[in-house]
Amino acid sequence: MKKVLFSDEEFNEALERLDQLMREAEDISNVDHKVLLYNVLQYFDSIHREPLSRIMHALGHHPELKRTIAQDETVQKLCALYDLTLEDSPLDNPNTVGFVAVSDVGFVTPPKKKDWLELGNYEDLENLKLYPKNYEKVNFIISRIGSDVFAVQNRCDGSVLPIDKGKIDGHFLTCPWHGCKYDLKTGKAVDDTDKRIETFPVEIEDDGLLKVEIAY
Ligand code: FES
Repeated sequence: MKKVLFSDEEFNEALERLDQLMREAEDISNVDHKVLLYNVLQYFDSIHREPLSRIMHALGHHPELKRTIAQDETVQKLCALYDLTLEDSPLDNPNTVGFVAVSDVGFVTPPKKKDWLELGNYEDLENLKLYPKNYEKVNFIISRIGSDVFAVQNRCDGSVLPIDKGKIDGHFLTCPWHGCKYDLKTGKAVDDTDKRIETFPVEIEDDGLLKVEIAY
């Protein structure tokens, strides 16, 4: 078997090219293509990460071999890609080497699918009332305020609690649980700049048909 397929330099070039390709992949505008690519990468990640973790465990019992391998620059980089280390704790304590999904290491931003939902004529909505809705496991609220309609997530930031029993005041919604007040236009909390709820694009067609775009 050939001992070395790439020189260290060629390996580094391949890594740089991969990095560049991943940046380009972030800009793919077709969501279906991005979801497909993300799934392919996730499976590639899984089938490499698991055996690599097992090799790391085994190396923990062979310190001399471990030291030799740890000196190889390409091995160091591969381990870094998978958040594994050839130095201290994981090998000294093999049980600490665990599986980390690609979605957790930010290899590619997990894409969201988006669908436009048709929700009837907006004039059928009562003014200043909150209507809880659900689509593809996304709980959201729509609310008509005069001739405007807003759509936001039905969950207080940092909590699992729904906010559809909150109070509307102008275009502000106050959470019924502990009083956090959100601007329905921006999703931002009025008194806490760190808190926000997701807002969804709304369109009202000429005939009054209300459409909301849900990302899931
Ligand atoms: S759950 Fe909304 S303010 Fe606490």
